[in-house]
Amino acid sequence: MDVKNKKWWHEAIGYQIYPKSFQDTNNDGIGDIPGMIEHLDDLKDLGITVIWISPINLSPMVDHGYDISDYLQIDPSFGTNEEFELLIQEAEKRGIKVLMDLVINHTSTQHEWFKRAMEDLDGEYAKYYVIQEGRDDQPPNNWRSMFGGSAWEKIAGTNKYYLHLFTVEQPDLNWENPALRQELYKIVEFWLEKGLAGFRVDAISHIKKIYDEENLPSDGPDGLVTVWENYRDAKGIGEFLGELRDMAFSKQDILTIAEMDVVDPERWEEYFGDNGYFSSIFDFYHTAYTIQDKTFDNDSEKFVEFLKPLVYKKQELANDRVFFTNFVENHDLPRALNRFIPKEEIGYHSASVLGMFYFFMRGIPVIYQGQEIGMVDYPKDTIDEYIDLATHNNYQDYLLKGLTEKEALTQINIENRENSRTPMQWNDQPNAGFTEGTPWFAVNPNYPEINYQQQKDDPKSLLNFYKKMIQLRKNPEYKDLFVYGKSIPDFVEAAGVIAYQRKSADQMISALCNLTNQAVVVEYDAEFEILLNNYTELKQAAGLMTLQPYQGVILEEKSLDNGK
Ligand code: NOJ
Repeated sequence: MDVKNKKWWHEAIGYQIYPKSFQDTNNDGIGDIPGMIEHLDDLKDLGITVIWISPINLSPMVDHGYDISDYLQIDPSFGTNEEFELLIQEAEKRGIKVLMDLVINHTSTQHEWFKRAMEDLDGEYAKYYVIQEGRDDQPPNNWRSMFGGSAWEKIAGTNKYYLHLFTVEQPDLNWENPALRQELYKIVEFWLEKGLAGFRVDAISHIKKIYDEENLPSDGPDGLVTVWENYRDAKGIGEFLGELRDMAFSKQDILTIAEMDVVDPERWEEYFGDNGYFSSIFDFYHTAYTIQDKTFDNDSEKFVEFLKPLVYKKQELANDRVFFTNFVENHDLPRALNRFIPKEEIGYHSASVLGMFYFFMRGIPVIYQGQEIGMVDYPKDTIDEYIDLATHNNYQDYLLKGLTEKEALTQINIENRENSRTPMQWNDQPNAGFTEGTPWFAVNPNYPEINYQQQKDDPKSLLNFYKKMIQLRKNPEYKDLFVYGKSIPDFVEAAGVIAYQRKSADQMISALCNLTNQAVVVEYDAEFEILLNNYTELKQAAGLMTLQPYQGVILEEKSLDNGK
């Protein structure tokens, strides 16, 4: 396949590490960098080529590292700067590149810049933050923080307020200030010099704010309002993103993946790709839904049929244009198995087909730690067992909306983001082998049944299926097809099935994924070779193919004259 402008990262296979929960080595109950180094061989064995590590910079950990108090230091709970450099080198030896999380929409209130800003509200550092005069002893306006409550915090002893779109301890930076922007570019340079391969760029769609000078009509019982157009991808953001690319990112051949919520398809090339602000983006068109929602009522066919047009549309529009980063899990979401599969049907077949459905689409596939062994949510008996502030705020919001405590907890158990933050289940030893100390967050008690070690030794495990998926994507015979081939929806009418072809001028494969517990029959009379199957057989007779419950297959069509 002859493709212009190939980039190394087009063929990346990514893995997200949530450092607090990956592997503890000094028994303080918190995952650390030596723990990551310890598992590099496992990641290599799985076939990973890029790891994205959620923030490891110095932080008071109010938002588990997404509140940075010193961008140039590694937090001691994770290790030292030297250990991080060693991680980069050790990863490189195994053909793995490392991405850091770049959290530059906000800092921690413990950052030196913020402390100095508070000491002198007329000084230089006050201009690093978004600070406004209150109105009649009230906040400057009634914007709601994304984590609940007012987005403004009063500065003690003044009538001024600072903006925090996330927690109170995460003050938003003022990107309108060129001096601040220069400081941020220096941070990027600092880490790139250490051999970093790029960044996942946090909350970057929020850096531009269009300030409302008065209260807007409220949209909830709290009297507050969410005004996305004023602080999510707000008009004029391109100026900042373009400068970030030109002044910081474009100096080296790096991979930058922006957390970008939703970008209008007409503007994809502006945002990502060869001339875009970033290499790729994580968007969230598919993450807000769960099969446990009342509208889907645990009916997988209903759920898949709802998602299908969204999945297909995005894939078709991306062809020959851009590379999305494809994922089903991250540290802000409940586990994918709980979102896509009815609880009683979670198992090897449903978990493997869930991996298959997104893994072969056009884009960079990313696995979130634990997904490869089928980790699931661990619902709590009381709200106090959760740590995350956003989770507690959401719980309070539910109470405010009239839910009972029991109803609110049920809802939180379904949708909270700490579901995916339970420690990685490495083996059947105490605390799943994550720590010999007390884990910072409770380990899911199902670890004797679901753990890495046991799956590593079992050729029929989910872990080994993920390995096979990666091997197939990397197979030199198909690699270019999987990376650059067009993605074309297939068997659109087959309810509960997500199917697509990947096609180039001389090759074609079909991915057929039955995401329901019913067998589904489709017409298929071409000759094919099975490249991957999560069952031991595939039934085909008289031009009809039967996909068993949760069966997924990757087939290479032989009827095309593919020159072999
Ligand atoms: C998005 C991150 O993924 C999330 O974990 C964090 O709380 C917010 N950005 C704020 O940084």
